[in-house]
Amino acid sequence: MLSKNIGRRRTIYALGKDLPLDEKAVVQLIEDCVLHCPTAFNMQSARTVILFRQSHADFWKMVEKEAVAAASSEKKEQAMKNIRRFSEAYATILFYEDSDVVKEFAAKFPLYRQNMETWAMQANGMLEYMIWQVLAENGIGASLQHYTELVETQTSRHFNLPKSWKMVAQMPFGSIVRPAAEKTFLPLADRVKIFR
Ligand SMILES: Cc1cc2nc3c(=O)[nH]c(=O)nc-3n(C[C@H](O)[C@H](O)[C@H](O)COP(=O)(O)O)c2cc1C
Repeated sequence: MLSKNIGRRRTIYALGKDLPLDEKAVVQLIEDCVLHCPTAFNMQSARTVILFRQSHADFWKMVEKEAVAAASSEKKEQAMKNIRRFSEAYATILFYEDSDVVKEFAAKFPLYRQNMETWAMQANGMLEYMIWQVLAENGIGASLQHYTELVETQTSRHFNLPKSWKMVAQMPFGSIVRPAAEKTFLPLADRVKIFR
């Protein structure tokens, strides 16, 4: 039987500030995900930073400045529009990996040294998905963004984050102002093989 909640998670770009939950409840949902998401060797190297209010606004101001500066002159307007949409969301989750933890586990398990970074990133992706899904189940929309290289250094400085934390992704979330556009699917028969 299909879980009725799986299709609820979509990429929502039109996000607003009218959240169906209070900040404390949202933090609890995110913390539950961070706590229970599986990780290779139980290494728990993913880190999250939750930005509300002025911190959320400050973050997207930094992204806007850098993205507009990096865009060609004919693309500046569009870049500004795209990023302003994210600042209209209620809040943002930043996803990080603690590189010190990954190095420690690579040293502890030399046989799997080569795999440790890949597994850490896979687990980070699982956490991103888990939070995205749990937010959706609670009527909160979100999208997944990657402005990492543009703002990683500034963001670490601004929020005084540990040097070992490497930025992976950003997830603006908020009330769903406009639902996601129609999505197309490749045939399942090309993607799932079943043998009996
Ligand atoms: C690993 C990964 C990276 C993604 N990066 C971005 C991104 O940088 N910007 C963006 O707008 N969407 C990003 N997305 C969202 C995808 O475009 C989206 O999930 C896909 O088109 C399917 O739509 P849905 O999320 O509504 O199901 C990313 C999704 C995944 C899984």
